[in-house]
Amino acid sequence: MKEKLAKIKEEALRQIEDSDALEKLNEVRVNFLGKKGELTTVLKSMKDVAPEERPKVGQMVNELRDEIERVLEQAKSKMEEKAREAAMKREVIDVTLPAKRNLVGHRHPNRIVLDEVERIFIGMGYEVVEGPEVEYDYYNFEALNIPADHPAKDEQDTFYVTNDILLRTQTSPVQVRTMEKGKLPIRMIAPGRVFRSDEVDATHSPSFHQIEGMIVDKGITFADLKGTLAQFAKELFGEKTKVKFRPHHFPFTEPSAEVDVSCFKCGGEGCRFCKGSGWIEILGCGMVHPKVLKMSGIDPDVYSGFAFGIGLERITLLKYEIDDMRLLYENDIRFLKQF
Ligand code: DAH
Repeated sequence: MKEKLAKIKEEALRQIEDSDALEKLNEVRVNFLGKKGELTTVLKSMKDVAPEERPKVGQMVNELRDEIERVLEQAKSKMEEKAREAAMKREVIDVTLPAKRNLVGHRHPNRIVLDEVERIFIGMGYEVVEGPEVEYDYYNFEALNIPADHPAKDEQDTFYVTNDILLRTQTSPVQVRTMEKGKLPIRMIAPGRVFRSDEVDATHSPSFHQIEGMIVDKGITFADLKGTLAQFAKELFGEKTKVKFRPHHFPFTEPSAEVDVSCFKCGGEGCRFCKGSGWIEILGCGMVHPKVLKMSGIDPDVYSGFAFGIGLERITLLKYEIDDMRLLYENDIRFLKQF
């Protein structure tokens, strides 16, 4: 029996020695100490041992069991230690390696100008609102006093989605949507993307941006419109900027005007920028047509208002002396970086 146990011990230690993975160690544990393991088998065969020998043999078996356990544990610790070291070596971070440089983004020049325009009007108590880019014909034309047979409908080269749904050609439909809500007074600007079936060139794009503006309240006059836009122009282009209102026609305003500002490059002397005239056109505006108020449920005998529409790209191009509108849409980082 003693010999047998010595043999088991030798074999177990050899197998532990040979193990190169935790699973192998586990196998050794099962083979020798498990329910059907060699040591257990020895215990089961105790009945063949002389009764007076049994306690001694039992003690030997227990000692061997403890020893195998101990060696197994040792081997396991060693293995785990080795694995930890390997992992540390693998995961070493070289802190002297030069870091990757993060490119910092830039606000698009359109965004810079729009932020400035919003800041100015918010300062005057306006609210910034939005309307849908896919719009009903009703809001884009009909409710703005542009009936089906109106020439302005052709002029705007509309992208139609269905017979009565289109890509808005202007931000003016947001005027109607705001008035329909029925909350008065109104003091809002509505920036957004508009669409017209235009060929791309240095001054045209099928998609560009406008900023609509509108006030509706009791007692609003053309003088309010002039004062507001004069102040706006001063804040955007500089304190010395003058404004000029030229009579014009828009179906949804009466009277209507186009507004020029004194050239902010030459101060009105005349230069390449203003094509020698000293003036630069920046927007269309007017007093909201009584029919437009009425169609949106506002009584034109009680309320009046003014509205204006600014072409965002036009102002961006002027302000930054960019001579080709396409540059605004290509998003070339070398271009955008300059602003
Ligand atoms: N919606 C006009 C356009 O796209 C611009 C415009 C003119 C807007 C006069 C207005 C306005 O609100 O009063 O050409």
